[in-house]
Amino acid sequence: MPRHRTVAVSASLALAAVLACSVSLAAFQAPATPAATPQAVIPAPARARISYEAPTELQHTDLPQWPYTPTPPPGSPALPPDDGQPHHLPGSTKAFTTKEIDGVGAVDWFPDSHPKAPAPVTEGKAGVYRACGTCHLINGYGKSDTENLNGMPVAYMQQQLEDMKGDLRHAAVVNMGVITMIPVAKGVPTEDAKAALDYFHSIGPAKWIRVVEADTVPKTIPGPHRLTAVDASGAKEPIDNRIIEIPESFDRTLLRDPTSGFIAYVPVGSVKKGEVLVKTGGGGRIMACTACHGADLHGMGDTIPPLAGRSPSATGRQLYDFKTGARHGKNSAMMKPVVEKLTDEDIVNISAYLASLPQ
Ligand code: HEC
Ligand code: HEC
Repeated sequence: MPRHRTVAVSASLALAAVLACSVSLAAFQAPATPAATPQAVIPAPARARISYEAPTELQHTDLPQWPYTPTPPPGSPALPPDDGQPHHLPGSTKAFTTKEIDGVGAVDWFPDSHPKAPAPVTEGKAGVYRACGTCHLINGYGKSDTENLNGMPVAYMQQQLEDMKGDLRHAAVVNMGVITMIPVAKGVPTEDAKAALDYFHSIGPAKWIRVVEADTVPKTIPGPHRLTAVDASGAKEPIDNRIIEIPESFDRTLLRDPTSGFIAYVPVGSVKKGEVLVKTGGGGRIMACTACHGADLHGMGDTIPPLAGRSPSATGRQLYDFKTGARHGKNSAMMKPVVEKLTDEDIVNISAYLASLPQ
């Protein structure tokens, strides 16, 4: 299975930088009194933290790739560059250009399909934060690279923003997961966030993920917007111990259609195995998820989020992020003993089962 290499690369770059630095220091110091007492070692300047990554010790190279869709290589299929020509969606009277679809504001293809959204969701603020409706879609149903926000408890979501602001919630894999959300959490004024979260909370459950057990799956490649795309060759490959989550219609999701959901291929038998773990903890191996997240897995109170019917990729990411400690927010400690004992296979089974439940 492909593994992430990014950290190894950046670590060797850092090493190269340190070496380069000591070489030039040595060259600079060489002509000075050679017999003098050795100079105190001058520490190399700390490498500037790259954007919003987890601290180096919490970054991982050995995690399964399926929950973390990497940025696609150059030349991969994407929206055409903006030529001023609008895109259309069947069933919508609206039309938007590439620039509008990939801009600061969110496109609203079906304004009658959701309550009126406040400005932070639709407009954002140029140079400060991007509208929530872009990445989470206008109704908060979310995509495999983000999380759904519809119906989520407001206080839980506020705490997540606080954790991100306080550098307590990161992704375990460099340049992945929550990385694009952290600058939003740091930039969005509190009252704008509150308006957006109240709105998302008010939106009811979605039937958004179709879980299909399969031995073989279409060969996939990293797509634009961090979506997983089907390889044009039409080839099939074994699913192995992975979940493959792809848009029901890649074209619609690329245009940020909030009415077109996702299909999640999961290994044969994984839903049943996941159910046993979630409901019983696998004979006492772990604490049953239902003990805290509720018998119906719809969450409990303001701190324990719902898990049912959400993106399995997002669920898998959170479990690895907790497990590695990259996500260690104010209330994450309760998850720590749970995730510590989960194997890669458990994480696939649990994520598959949870995704199969109604929201
Ligand atoms: C640039 C894309 C992007 C934008 C814009 C964006 N988000 Fe996010 N958001 C994400 C990603 C990515 C995640 C986390 C995915 C993960 O951890 O796996 C996330 C996660 C969240 C979470 C945590 C949900 C949970 O279940 O823990 C909240 C809350 C949230 N976003 C709120 C907002 C709000 C409010 C706005 C607008 C002010 C917003 N987001 C705008 C990408 C975005
Ligand atoms: C002891 C109580 C407890 C148990 C048991 C528990 N959880 Fe949690 N879980 C929490 C709390 C509290 C949070 C919120 C953590 C935070 O805010 O960082 C959470 C958060 C999560 C999240 C993050 C969701 C999101 O919106 O990002 C996932 C996924 C999750 N739990 C899955 C599970 C699974 C799967 C199990 C069982 C294998 C489980 N939990 C068992 C208390 C628990």
